[in-house]
Amino acid sequence: MARLALITGAAGLIGHYLLTTAPRWASRWEVRGITRQDVDLTDAGAVRRLWRDLHPHAVIHCAAQSRTGLCQQDPTLAQRINVKATALLAELAAEIPFLFLSSDQVFDGSKGRYVETDPVNPLNVYGETKAEAERIVLQNPRHSVIRVALNAGTSPTGDRSFVEDMRNSLKGGTLLTLFTDEFRCPLPAGMTARALWELIDQDRPGLYHLGGAERLSRWEIGQALISWYPELAGQIQPDSVGTYTGAPRPPDLSMRCDKLQGLLSFPLSGLRAWLAGRTSAGQDLWDYPEGSL
Ligand SMILES: NC(=O)c1ccc[n+]([C@@H]2O[C@H](COP(=O)([O-])OP(=O)(O)OC[C@H]3O[C@@H](n4cnc5c(N)ncnc54)[C@H](OP(=O)(O)O)[C@@H]3O)[C@@H](O)[C@H]2O)c1
Repeated sequence: MARLALITGAAGLIGHYLLTTAPRWASRWEVRGITRQDVDLTDAGAVRRLWRDLHPHAVIHCAAQSRTGLCQQDPTLAQRINVKATALLAELAAEIPFLFLSSDQVFDGSKGRYVETDPVNPLNVYGETKAEAERIVLQNPRHSVIRVALNAGTSPTGDRSFVEDMRNSLKGGTLLTLFTDEFRCPLPAGMTARALWELIDQDRPGLYHLGGAERLSRWEIGQALISWYPELAGQIQPDSVGTYTGAPRPPDLSMRCDKLQGLLSFPLSGLRAWLAGRTSAGQDLWDYPEGSL
């Protein structure tokens, strides 16, 4: 009988890709997605009831307040969902594999090319909550933390991935400024989903970095997207992050992913290589079809 894998945050970007790719990459699992409509994960009683009803054999915990700005505005809410709800799920999942999705934002971005053993030093509330939850999750040697880089994809709500954010902001008609000196390792959400499904099958718990192989500036990312999203042409402009006056921004959150790459059956390609390998505009550009790359 198939074992039950629970996906929290199933209506979000990565959770959605996990669900839609499960028939392809997770055929030995019965997969159940949990959304806010099923349960508010900050309601401990409801979470315990759900657990008693479902008895999952593994959990991929994607639900979060993932927007840095909203975490900054409401640190208490960010703490409740990103830390407390994670701690409760990790407690309930004490005897089974538990994959917690963290973020490159646990680093301050002063160094770049981060490896798993580098010390964390978050600059914002979102990164602080992720770093705190990581410490709780990693107390259990059966559990895993996956620090995920910037994901490109198409979300059910149309407003979750950085590509959607870029395209939505253009609708206001203003030029979009992209920093030439802020670096990330973006990757397609379909690739993230495939990597998570492979990792959960490996039963190799621990701390992992999951990003694309190319370190790109925000400006380079925008340039790379133009061939698939021509509306970006003429609508994006380069600038230095030095001109930015808002909350602190980690300049270089590039990560090395050798540890995870060593467990995977496919390459964690960079964003430009990924886009160069796409041929059909008909399919989801950010999905990982069988047989590609
Ligand atoms: N996408 C990225 O580029 C990226 C990069 C680094 C790390 N991550 C991490 O990866 C994970 C998945 O990211 P994502 O992009 O898929 O995030 P997302 O699109 O924002 O999805 C998160 C989901 O969690 C749900 N949620 C939030 N609070 C909840 C609550 N109290 N009860 C039940 N559900 C709740 C959200 O529902 P509502 O929409 O109703 O709030 C949303 O559907 C997150 O932990 C995120 O921090 C993502």
